[in-house]
Amino acid sequence: MSQNQTIQPAGGLAGEITVPGDKSISHRSIMLGSLARGTTMVHGFLQGEDNYATLNAFRSMGIAIEELSDGRIRIEGKGLHGLSEPSDVIDCGNSGTTIRLMTGLLAGQKFFSVLTGDRYLRQRPMRRVVEPVGQMGAVIWGRRNGELAPLAIRGAALKATEYVSPVASAQVKSALLLAGLYADGITTVREPHLSRDHSERMLTCFGADVRPFDGGVSVAGNPDLEGREVFVPGDISSAAFFLVAALITPGSELLLRNVGLNPTRSGVVEILQAMGGSLELQNLREQAGEPVADILVKSSRLRGIDVGGSLVPRAIDEFPVISVAAALAEGTTTIRDARELRVKETDRIAAMTSELTKLGARVEAREDGMVIEGVEALEGASVISHGDHRIAMSMAVAALRARKPVTIADTGCTTTSFPNFWNLLASIRK
Ligand code: S3P
Repeated sequence: MSQNQTIQPAGGLAGEITVPGDKSISHRSIMLGSLARGTTMVHGFLQGEDNYATLNAFRSMGIAIEELSDGRIRIEGKGLHGLSEPSDVIDCGNSGTTIRLMTGLLAGQKFFSVLTGDRYLRQRPMRRVVEPVGQMGAVIWGRRNGELAPLAIRGAALKATEYVSPVASAQVKSALLLAGLYADGITTVREPHLSRDHSERMLTCFGADVRPFDGGVSVAGNPDLEGREVFVPGDISSAAFFLVAALITPGSELLLRNVGLNPTRSGVVEILQAMGGSLELQNLREQAGEPVADILVKSSRLRGIDVGGSLVPRAIDEFPVISVAAALAEGTTTIRDARELRVKETDRIAAMTSELTKLGARVEAREDGMVIEGVEALEGASVISHGDHRIAMSMAVAALRARKPVTIADTGCTTTSFPNFWNLLASIRK
């Protein structure tokens, strides 16, 4: 699905928008709804390709999942042991969350399953879940000694484990927590910095015994999960493109409604505020266990800052668009401790460095981040998405502050997380 988009420089952005539902929470709503007993109703589900990969996976294991005409999703869960063996390979598409969380969950089943994905996913590291989940007792094979998908999983009765993860990764943590549901006793995961905690929050809502502590989290095996109503807030990772778009485009004022502001995800707001961005959180409230607010953003003069440490996992998916803000800020921005960016949908350090450079930005790639020297405006050019939805959308944002039009090749990938992105962007131009 390779398409092209040409984006014209913008005079200013204005209006009120609602970004689509949170991708991470949408995945987990299908998984836990399927493992719970009874009906789960999901409001605000993200209708992106990644989430349909998860939805179809559970349908292929015998779970009735209905899409209602108003966008709600109804899941008839069959309990922790209610899945049946899929008769075909499960295709996770481009979705790292689907394949890694499912690896944990399938390890505890009494059947055989195979997980694969598109050519990008089949290049991403899987040993980070294959190894610790395998140590709990399941047999998992993968190409290159378990590093690459396809993965073949023979489920087993699992032993509880205590695992110290070398990376702050919600996908690793969640895979172990899901496997831990099938283990006797308490499974514990420690991580170097706190990664997003949606699994912990949603498991607790569904009735599991989850105990977060300083440096990690534990879950007790064999819980009785019960169907729930899930309200998915707007995805802050999708909102981030519009936050930066309004900040860098003079004469802009935008209101973003219903944005999830879970503290393990809201690093981008702190980073943009530290850069001098005018972001005002309004109407802060709690919605089904997750903090939510409306965000009013106005164009601002940005300045470069240093970003590293525990802030990195709290903004991990936003660095492509943060690097766009940095490219137009006064002074130097240094991003460090962000080596994980190299193993996302593409190597995002290499991709943003090469594409921003084509637009005349001053960017230097480092092994664990980037150093960016701000410029007054960018130039027109032809750039590519590297098949990565967030690179495509970040380049569209950068194009708003270019002197000439920017053409972005291979933009079909935005449907994985934000099917409506191009229309929404067009709708807020003054
Ligand atoms: C996600 C975790 C993060 C993030 C991804 C979604 C999740 O990945 O980058 O987009 O839903 O758990 P890592 O766990 O690899 O950091």
